[in-house]
Amino acid sequence: MFESLPSFPADPLLSLISAFAADPRPTKMDLGVGVYKNPFGDTPVMQAVKRAERWLAEQQHTKTYLGITGSIEFQTNLTKLLVRSDLAASLGSKLVTFQAVGGTGALWLAAQLLAKTSSKPRIWISNPAWANHPGIFLASGFTVERYDYYNAASGGVDFQAIASAAGMMQRGDAFLLQGCCHNPTGEDLSIPQLRELFDILRNRGVIPLIDIAYAGLALGFDADLEILNIALETFDEVLFAFSCSKNFSLYRERVGLLLAKTSSEVGADRVRGALASTARCSYSMPPDHGAAVVSVIAASDELRPLWLLELEQIRREIVTKRQRLSSAPFGNNVLSRLSAQTGFFSLLPLSPAACRRLTSEYGIYLPDSGRISVLGISNENEESFIRSLGEVLND
Ligand code: LMR
Repeated sequence: MFESLPSFPADPLLSLISAFAADPRPTKMDLGVGVYKNPFGDTPVMQAVKRAERWLAEQQHTKTYLGITGSIEFQTNLTKLLVRSDLAASLGSKLVTFQAVGGTGALWLAAQLLAKTSSKPRIWISNPAWANHPGIFLASGFTVERYDYYNAASGGVDFQAIASAAGMMQRGDAFLLQGCCHNPTGEDLSIPQLRELFDILRNRGVIPLIDIAYAGLALGFDADLEILNIALETFDEVLFAFSCSKNFSLYRERVGLLLAKTSSEVGADRVRGALASTARCSYSMPPDHGAAVVSVIAASDELRPLWLLELEQIRREIVTKRQRLSSAPFGNNVLSRLSAQTGFFSLLPLSPAACRRLTSEYGIYLPDSGRISVLGISNENEESFIRSLGEVLND
């Protein structure tokens, strides 16, 4: 029976992880998956997380199920960090939260929820986008449309293209926007551009889904969350997928949150019911550990500032790395735009063949799209990365 299955290609990013691990070359560099790496190439556990874990090891007295929506404490404590208090108070129970299995899980819940609102759901996703975005929505029965996002020739967001695509969207369409640190380009909309885009979307009756997996890594935690508060003020109905993978360095714990602003108590109840039904039929109830850690940190006047300091340190390392790479002496300027971009990723103008050559000849692992995760280049490796890139580009 199974022989008749079609073959499903592995996600190239996940294949890179295993290919990198198997490569014996000591000079290899992993620029693939978006994971924080310190200047020594490690992804350490944050001190705030360690301390919360020690506290939990002593104090947690049960491992019984959390319930379908996840930990209420986690949702309350995290939401206080994300949403301005006056907005949260005015929304009351029209703001629905639901614990998710990582940022991807939050997107999956959002996709399943939106799919239940229409017999022909349609979503607009940036081109380029995180490779998993279209997959999640295709698997949920959506027609996926793309809006051009990036001006590859000049670098930067192509706001004209985004705005004109938005102007043609139809009532009931969903629009997926990355809140900051756009994956894969590193190019974000400015606040005035966001406001202009939001006005268009609101006038067209489009529902935004904002994926804010990288909050804290662009301009700072509060600054990165401005988009969330502006969207809550602009739209009657809007969804957010939040992840604690990157900003709490809790990657493998799979902690995320779906937030939904609804326009009525009835709408909020229906959303809760739909989300519960999706959760029950997939993972049933979410895992606890990572959410418990986030909850302890978010509620603690001692650990929260420590965590914010550590997060800011990561952000500064990204900024420094980008500045170092963009100012490196390099003939054709392909790295010069890096310092104007945010987050882990940038998209280099490399052909798939050039990417593969970087991997096979130089041990530099990156997907065929030319996306690099900048912190994968340690200080020690910078020179050899730039030299190898130059050799491949000059051929
Ligand atoms: C990435 O794009 O590298 C991250 O979002 C990790 C992932 O799951 O793909």
